[in-house]
Amino acid sequence: MLERLEELERKALVDLEGVESEGDLNAWKVKYLGRSAELSTILAELRELPKADRPSVGRRANQVKTAMEQALEAKRNALKAAALERSLKEERLDVTLPGRPIPRGRLHPANQTLRQIYAIWAQMGFQIYLSRDVETDDYNFGLLNIPEHHPARDMWDTFHTTEPGILLRTHTSPGQIHAMRERAPEPIRVILPGMCYRYEQATARYEIQFNQVEGLAVGHSITFADLKGTLNDFARRMFSPQVRTRFRASHFPFTEPSAEMDIECFLCNGAGCSVCRRSGWLEILGCGMVHPVVLHNGGYDPQMFSGFAFGMGPERISMLKHGIEDIRHFWANDLRFLEQF
Ligand code: DAH
Repeated sequence: MLERLEELERKALVDLEGVESEGDLNAWKVKYLGRSAELSTILAELRELPKADRPSVGRRANQVKTAMEQALEAKRNALKAAALERSLKEERLDVTLPGRPIPRGRLHPANQTLRQIYAIWAQMGFQIYLSRDVETDDYNFGLLNIPEHHPARDMWDTFHTTEPGILLRTHTSPGQIHAMRERAPEPIRVILPGMCYRYEQATARYEIQFNQVEGLAVGHSITFADLKGTLNDFARRMFSPQVRTRFRASHFPFTEPSAEMDIECFLCNGAGCSVCRRSGWLEILGCGMVHPVVLHNGGYDPQMFSGFAFGMGPERISMLKHGIEDIRHFWANDLRFLEQF
């Protein structure tokens, strides 16, 4: 029986060497350590041995069993280590490889400037008032103190629709009338942003469509000093705290008096360059005290109310800030342009 044990141990260990997979290993375990394995038979037969031989044979049988179990465990660990080694080699990951960049969308440069302008006016207590792109002749002109046949209409070349009296707004100023008629007699502090349209030859400086941001404040004692102070504050927040401004007398039918505001050219600091056309100044908006006729048309008594208004072109401001030389880039949808912002 001892010989059978020796032979069993030798065979089992040789067999185990040939095992190369988890499946083979389990088969080996069933064959040599399972319930119907030869070792179990031997252990069962112990009873038939003479009493004197039983302890030594029994001890040996247990040693063989332990040896096989230990060999099994060692093999199992070796198989695991080999599997890990293999997967590390096969699934090798080079963490130093630069990643592929995910293309990211971004805001259109016009919207970037618009949002900056909204934020500044919001800080100063101005709400956004949205008004329509398609307007009546009355709102776009008449109610703004630009009567029919008035030569001032030549300032705005207009896209008319086939419907008489219906047109694409040429400026955001008609929104002033909508806002006033909705809010009167409450005081107003709003900005009115939006797209405007003009029937013009598109050039580097003029587009047939562009944004404007209109502003309107109406109250009981608003003065030209409020207009200047507020617009100066805007310029400092928009351009730089040191920016210098100047107001030039101008004319708009819907304001009296009217002015245009220039800021000192931030490219040459006022010395004169090609962008400011050697003047040292950049024109950024038109403004004025709301004309009594316009206040009246909006539903306010001009004896009791006054107000100021302004209108600026955000695309023009973007062009100045980024050195964009052609306004037609804004709506040409050329990614080479848009991706720069
Ligand atoms: N609506 C004018 C334009 O399109 C701009 C403007 C000037 C708006 C003066 C105003 C203003 O509100 O007060 O040229």
